[in-house]
Amino acid sequence: MTAVARTIRFGIIGAGLMGREFASVAARWCHLLDLDFKPEIVAVCDSNPEALDWFVRNVPTIRQVSANYEELLENPDIEAIYCAVPHHLHELLYRDIIRSGKHLLGEKPFGIDQEANRGILKELEHHPQAVVRCASEFPFFPGAYKMAQWVREGRFGSIIEVEAGFLHSSDLNPLKPINWKRRTATNGEYGCMGDLGVHVLHLPLQFGWNIRNVRALLSNIVKERPDGHGVMVPCDTWDNAILACEASADGQPFPMVLSMKRIDPGHANTWFIRVKGTQWSAEFSTQYPKQIKYMPYAPGHVMGWIYEDIPYASAYPTVTGSIFEFGFSDSLLQMWAAYCDELANGRISPVVRCVTPEQTAEAHRVFTAALISYREGRTVELGDIS
Ligand SMILES: NC(=O)c1ccc[n+]([C@@H]2O[C@H](COP(=O)([O-])OP(=O)(O)OC[C@H]3O[C@@H](n4cnc5c(N)ncnc54)[C@H](O)[C@@H]3O)[C@@H](O)[C@H]2O)c1
Repeated sequence: MTAVARTIRFGIIGAGLMGREFASVAARWCHLLDLDFKPEIVAVCDSNPEALDWFVRNVPTIRQVSANYEELLENPDIEAIYCAVPHHLHELLYRDIIRSGKHLLGEKPFGIDQEANRGILKELEHHPQAVVRCASEFPFFPGAYKMAQWVREGRFGSIIEVEAGFLHSSDLNPLKPINWKRRTATNGEYGCMGDLGVHVLHLPLQFGWNIRNVRALLSNIVKERPDGHGVMVPCDTWDNAILACEASADGQPFPMVLSMKRIDPGHANTWFIRVKGTQWSAEFSTQYPKQIKYMPYAPGHVMGWIYEDIPYASAYPTVTGSIFEFGFSDSLLQMWAAYCDELANGRISPVVRCVTPEQTAEAHRVFTAALISYREGRTVELGDIS
C-alpha cells in the first residue's frame, strides 16, 4: 500500500476563469498515479459574489469564503495560494501573499509592467523560502515535452532558426464586448504580450537561450468595442505582436520570431514552437495536439518530414491509456503536479518545469524592449533594459 499523500492546503484568490480551472484540476487529482502529495482547496476569495457562489456549490472542501483576500492570508490553515486576478492587482496581491509567508502560484505576466514585476521579485528577496512560480501549462503537452527533451539532448545540432507563438482569433469579432483584458489600465501597456507572451517564452527561457535584441511590430486592429450597455468605448490594447529577436544558444546566434496574437483568423488557443537545426528540425502545435513533426538530417541523406502520433506520455503518469489524446485541462493538471512536487518534495524536472520569478523578469525585459522598439522604430538591445 502507498503511504498517505501529503496534503497541500490551498486558498484561491480570483475565482474567475482560471480559478475555476484550478478547482477542476484539484477535483481530478485521482487522474494522476501514485503521487505522494495532493492539493486541497480550503478557501476562496473574490470581490464578485457570483464567482464565490460557483465555488461554494462545487468545491466541498472549502471552509472559508471571503471578499477580502487579507482574511485568507491570516488563515494559518492555508499553506499556499493560487492567485488569478487582473494584471493591475498582481504586484499588490503577490507581494502581500509572499509577505504573509505563504507559497504562491501566480499568473502571468507576473506584474502589469516591469516596475511591478521588480517589486514582486524584491519582496521575494526577503522570503527566499517561499515557493513562488508563474503558471504556464503548454510545455506540459507530450509533444512540447518531447521537443524539450530533444533540445536537452542537443539533438538539433546548431540551431538555424526558431519560431514560437500563441494565436487566437476571438477578438476578430468587433462586437465582442470589452473586458479588463482589453483595457490598458487593467491589462497593461504590453497588451497581447502581457496576456500571451510568458507562454511563448516559457520554453526558450527554460532552454537558456539568450535573447540579445528585439525588433517589434505591434498592431491595434479593433480600436473600439461595445461596453455591454450599447455604448462603444476605446479598446486601447495591442491586439497582435510580432517580435523578431536575435537569440543565441551556446554562443551561436540564430533568429527567433515570437508571435502573440489575439487576432489571427482561424486560430483558437494555438500554442506552437518550431525549431530548425543543422541535424534535426521539429515542430509541435496544440492545433494538432497528438502529433509531432520532425526531420532528422545527416549529410547527403534525403530530407523528409516524419509525422508521428504521440502517445499520452505525460511528465506525471496518469490513469489514461497511452492510446488516448491529451488536452488543455490535462496540461493544467500536469503543471499543477509540477508545482506541488516542487513545494512538497523540492523535486524539479530537468525537462519542463514551472516558470520561475527570474524568468518572468526576463520576459518583462523582452516586452519592455518591444514597446520601445515599436515606439522608436528600431531594434532594442536587451542589455540596455535594466
Ligand atoms: N494560464 C493560463 O492559461 C491563463 C489563461 C487565462 C488567464 N490567465 C491569467 O489569469 C489571471 C486571471 O485571469 P482570468 O482569465 O481568470 O480572469 P477573470 O476575469 O475570469 O477572473 C479574475 C477574477 O478576479 C476577481 N477579482 C478582481 N479583483 C479582485 C480582488 N481585489 N480580490 C479578489 N478577487 C478579485 C474577479 O472578480 C474575477 O472573478 C490573469 O493574470 C490572466 O493573465 C492565465
